[in-house]
Amino acid sequence: MDLAELNRVAKALVAPGKGVLAADESAGTVKKRFDVIGVECTEDTRRDYRELLFRSRGMANISGVILFDETIRQKAKDGTPLVKIIEAAGTLPGIKVDKGVKPLPFCPGEVITEGLDGLGERLAEYRGLGAKFAKWRAVIDIGAGIPSYACVNANAHALARYAALCQSEDIVPIVEPEVLMDGEHDIDRCADVTEFVLKTVYEQLYYARVKLEGTVLKPNMVVPGKKSAKQASVAEVAEKTLRVLKECVPAAVPGVAFLSGGQSDVDATARLDAINKSGGLPWKVSFSFSRALQAAPQKAWSGRLENVAAAQAVFAHRARMNGLASLGEWKPELEQAA
Ligand code: 13P
Repeated sequence: MDLAELNRVAKALVAPGKGVLAADESAGTVKKRFDVIGVECTEDTRRDYRELLFRSRGMANISGVILFDETIRQKAKDGTPLVKIIEAAGTLPGIKVDKGVKPLPFCPGEVITEGLDGLGERLAEYRGLGAKFAKWRAVIDIGAGIPSYACVNANAHALARYAALCQSEDIVPIVEPEVLMDGEHDIDRCADVTEFVLKTVYEQLYYARVKLEGTVLKPNMVVPGKKSAKQASVAEVAEKTLRVLKECVPAAVPGVAFLSGGQSDVDATARLDAINKSGGLPWKVSFSFSRALQAAPQKAWSGRLENVAAAQAVFAHRARMNGLASLGEWKPELEQAA
């Protein structure tokens, strides 16, 4: 393991004014997104759409792109590998390596992320294809009587096994324990569960001998459930998110890059900005968004060649807004200027 190199890549992922584009949706998830904009989901349309993003000037604010297995092997329309287009933009290619979730036995309503078998060999291959970092997502739901210790512990253990395998292949693990924002729970319940999950994850990373200097954490923000009657202000989300992170995330971790998790584009940006405006944080705090970066350009594109330039501009705007938020320099007025 080359810890200096892992640390260099981890820091690059949260470089000032930049964050990660999560473009690692499985073909099934892309189909769901394309259905909304009335676009047929084929290998070519998935390629055309992602090529549009990777060739946008918005990449100036993107430190790394998380790819799906299909995409890391895919070529642009002109035959250039998509990985080369990403590298030419000065951005690091990464890869999603988990194989999705399955029901966790004897834990109704809870899931476990699979994909550890053969992972060492897959990582070595992905490294050869250009991947400098990887992602594994654990999913924790909040509901009556859940999450259980069994679920949190099993998922944290899998995340730690994944992270250790990544580091032994000189790939930076993005460690993603996502506490979902579905449900009716209030923000304090989200804070309690997120704290439980993060404490368990860092305990398991320690037992697995993972070097935190060569990792990035991708957590949820602390927010109320979407169906909660009590929504929260930007200031409350920032304050409660930071309180939990400071309780749980060691200062050796170079960066925290939030997932967007179903928040609106501007909510995700405003909350990230408020977190950074508080200042004095032990880690860099940035973004690793899929929906909050892609919903707007997807709509602008709607599968039409004549919309490509407009969609690229919309993506560049969201990337710039989030880049500013990662510095605590975003302002609501800048959204109107788009
Ligand atoms: P969202 O930003 O849409 O939550 O996706 C981030 C991600 O990579 C989920 O694994």
